[in-house]
Amino acid sequence: MKRENRTRAARPLPLVVRYVFFAGMLAATIVALWQSGSPATSPASAASLFLQDRGQQPVLRPVPRDILPAELEIDWQQLFPGTMRNEPEDNPVTLAKVALGRRLFFDPILSDDGTVACASCHDPRHAFATPDRVAIGIRGQVGKRNSPSLLNVALGSSFFWDARTEGLEAQALEPISNPLELGSDPDAVVMRLAAHAEYPALFQDAFGSPVSKENLARAIASFERVLASSNNGADRFHNGEITALSVSAKQGLWLFESRGRCWMCHSDDNLTDNQLHNTGVSWGEEPLDLGRFEQTEIPTDRGRFKTPSLRDVARTAPYMHDGSLATLEDVVEFYDRGGVKNPYLDELMQPLNLSEDDKRHLVDFLRELNGQIDWGTGAAKERQPR
Ligand code: HEC
Ligand code: HEC
Repeated sequence: MKRENRTRAARPLPLVVRYVFFAGMLAATIVALWQSGSPATSPASAASLFLQDRGQQPVLRPVPRDILPAELEIDWQQLFPGTMRNEPEDNPVTLAKVALGRRLFFDPILSDDGTVACASCHDPRHAFATPDRVAIGIRGQVGKRNSPSLLNVALGSSFFWDARTEGLEAQALEPISNPLELGSDPDAVVMRLAAHAEYPALFQDAFGSPVSKENLARAIASFERVLASSNNGADRFHNGEITALSVSAKQGLWLFESRGRCWMCHSDDNLTDNQLHNTGVSWGEEPLDLGRFEQTEIPTDRGRFKTPSLRDVARTAPYMHDGSLATLEDVVEFYDRGGVKNPYLDELMQPLNLSEDDKRHLVDFLRELNGQIDWGTGAAKERQPR
């Protein structure tokens, strides 16, 4: 009996094993099906989830369309009279390179999964920035910094908020390989472009040589070099057109250039000294971003970020390296307090004791800094989506 029982007791075991195995397979299949249909794995929805986490509206985002004027001016003296653009000798701007760079800029072929282009974060409708607080790249991944405007990058000498890259050519390949942005191996991009029906001929036309990483970077940089903004209200006022600014904006200009202290850092034609300063933006807050220090590890570089241009600033909210200030009013309040106190605060930062009228004048002045070419709408002719 005992022996029989044992044998009988032993018999169901394989069945149990088979059942468990089957159930396991079933569960795995269900999980796989659920995951493939799950919102978390589709890029756009992942972005929505992330945005909701950060208290922003969920957004589904197609790549912005190319709404620039059909013909782009490439002569810098027409675009920004009286200034010099930085242009390397081995990559002079030509119409063919600008046209190629322009097409690449709007083409998600540069991204790993074909969903994101340069224009996704540098949208012409927002002066080549975005309304997002921080950048959103492929698969909805969220970076830690705000996308800067690309207007007048031709006047810049170092790029990124921490000035870590010199030259637009060197800069152009960075977002391609950044896993949080376009997330693609530049060599893989070259292969995709070389296999494309039209790109090989366009590269040949522009450079007299085939698709390569160097030519890719040169084309994109050439396009960026024609994105100029000049002849705004303040420029016209400085050139003697005294009605170019409202009474309040004139007061704001005076404050900007005197006890508002703005001119000390937002100097020169492009309203930036192209230097780095610690103004205390989000000092000590998570996610911790120590700016220039993360490149150099020099203690006094803690919290230093590049002074941004203020041209077209009314079109590029939110503000600062992390998009932490929503409006120009918030920015003026920030400076009125003297920034945020910290051991490395730039000595040029001091409380301003502005009156409510002063603050309004400063904001009115900043709103007059929109350039003459309205790249997003204005003279720009609507182009058909490809
Ligand atoms: C996912 C969003 C995203 C994409 C896509 C993206 N960028 Fe950016 N871009 C940013 C952010 C964020 C910064 C600032 C990063 C930093 O400072 O660390 C930046 C900085 C820059 C700068 C420096 C500007 C300055 O004044 O310092 C240039 C130039 C630029 N991007 C060009 C491009 C080009 C060209 C492409 C396509 C090849 C591209 N970006 C794709 C988000 C993006
Ligand atoms: C000590 C140098 C300094 C002074 C003085 C200064 N700024 Fe700035 N400004 C900066 C730096 C650096 C940043 C970027 C800081 C960051 O993101 O961490 C900045 C950012 C800004 C921005 C955000 C631009 C953008 O695209 O995000 C605005 C607007 C601005 N400043 C306006 C002003 C005004 C108005 C004044 C005078 C009341 C002023 N600044 C005084 C250095 C300065």
